[in-house]
Amino acid sequence: MADQVDSQGKSKMLNGTQKANASAVTAGGMSTETVAMDRRRFLVAGAAAGGAVMAGTVGGVAHAANPENLPPNVPEWSHVLGAAVDDAPYGLPSPFESHVVRRNVEWLTSTTQASINFTPLANLHGIITPNGLCFCRHHGGAAAVNPEDHRLIIHGLVDRELIFTMEDLLRMPSVSRIHFLECAANGGMEWRGAQMEALQFTHGMINCCEWTGVSLKTVLDQAGLKPKAKWLLAEGADASGMTRSIPLEKALGDCILVYAQNGEMLRPEQGYPLRLLVPGWEGNMSIKWLRRIEVGDQPWHTREESSKYTDLMPSGEARRFTWRQETNSVITSVAPERPLNGKGFYELSGVAWTGSGKIKRVDISTDGGRNWTTAQISGPVLDKSLTRFRMPWRWNGEEVLLQSRAMDETGYVQPTFAQLRSTRGIWSIYHRHAIQTWLVRSSGEVENVQLS
Ligand code: CO
Repeated sequence: MADQVDSQGKSKMLNGTQKANASAVTAGGMSTETVAMDRRRFLVAGAAAGGAVMAGTVGGVAHAANPENLPPNVPEWSHVLGAAVDDAPYGLPSPFESHVVRRNVEWLTSTTQASINFTPLANLHGIITPNGLCFCRHHGGAAAVNPEDHRLIIHGLVDRELIFTMEDLLRMPSVSRIHFLECAANGGMEWRGAQMEALQFTHGMINCCEWTGVSLKTVLDQAGLKPKAKWLLAEGADASGMTRSIPLEKALGDCILVYAQNGEMLRPEQGYPLRLLVPGWEGNMSIKWLRRIEVGDQPWHTREESSKYTDLMPSGEARRFTWRQETNSVITSVAPERPLNGKGFYELSGVAWTGSGKIKRVDISTDGGRNWTTAQISGPVLDKSLTRFRMPWRWNGEEVLLQSRAMDETGYVQPTFAQLRSTRGIWSIYHRHAIQTWLVRSSGEVENVQLS
């Protein structure tokens, strides 16, 4: 199984490189339709070269049932005692779910310490992401921090400079809230044309968890802010010393000093023992392994913020301080990893989210955006959280173009790619939140495409 996934990962990498080249060549003025056509040609070329770019292989499970285990027979596991309660002090998923893992894309970055892996959205249910499947973006690898030796320093424009131990923080009043956390570059490979052939890679730089910790405001109040205080610098204890500047209004708003995620202490790769959570804003601001907060009167011009996290516009100018993650949605129950198996009933389900507050409505189209039906919002609708939507659907076996379109509580409607490109162009990496299209072939295979 592992070998199979690995070899597919490699063929995907090869095709990804070719597709990236195709996008760069065709982006200059050809329609997105042309880009999509070229992409398909590269897919075919990849398959001919021996790379198995089959829909469904990333997240699918191929296994044949053993008739001995099927009714009226008593299955083999009913004949023997099962595992004892002390066999797995920390439980793990069924081995039959071993295909549900985070994956990275080798050609994206030159090392895996300064890189990203992706959440397998096609295999998740509801709105909560299990801790072991939350995407990770590291800049200098995941620091291995001993909480006994970890300190949080608060200094700068404060009345009292403070140093907290983890024990200090765990004794303070706490909060628990559910929020999504999304990398600013989620979907960034899709700006110049459809490129990634899996939902995991088109939208997987996101998770949604219950976060527990101390309100950042509680700690800042304790330190006492000087009248000139306007900005915070948050710094991580990892090898990159990752930093971001955060405006004070946000810091005093809903930011949390997080030590627990989905009920357990943070995982090392999620910032153990302490991270910042800046709800609804670019994920990289939620500094992991948080060791220092400096209060100042202006933003810091760190290397990260000068060279990255700006959005290059068609004019050649770049937008700065675009922190909020925009209104977005995607169908997850039908995806390249979740091909259809014959005509008949399916549930179209997916997730919507917005850094602007709550999701108000999600519409689904099965004809590429000509007609829309409002989906059922199912489960909790929370502030800056994934929101699950569902719609019953009967597939007649013909080619269809599936789309979802989210609207947030401010009335903002998720744009098409054409609308997004008309204002933002194609050269940004960040804030790609356009409507996703899945092309369902009559074979049931599902492809990532973009419509002009
Ligand atoms: Co931004």
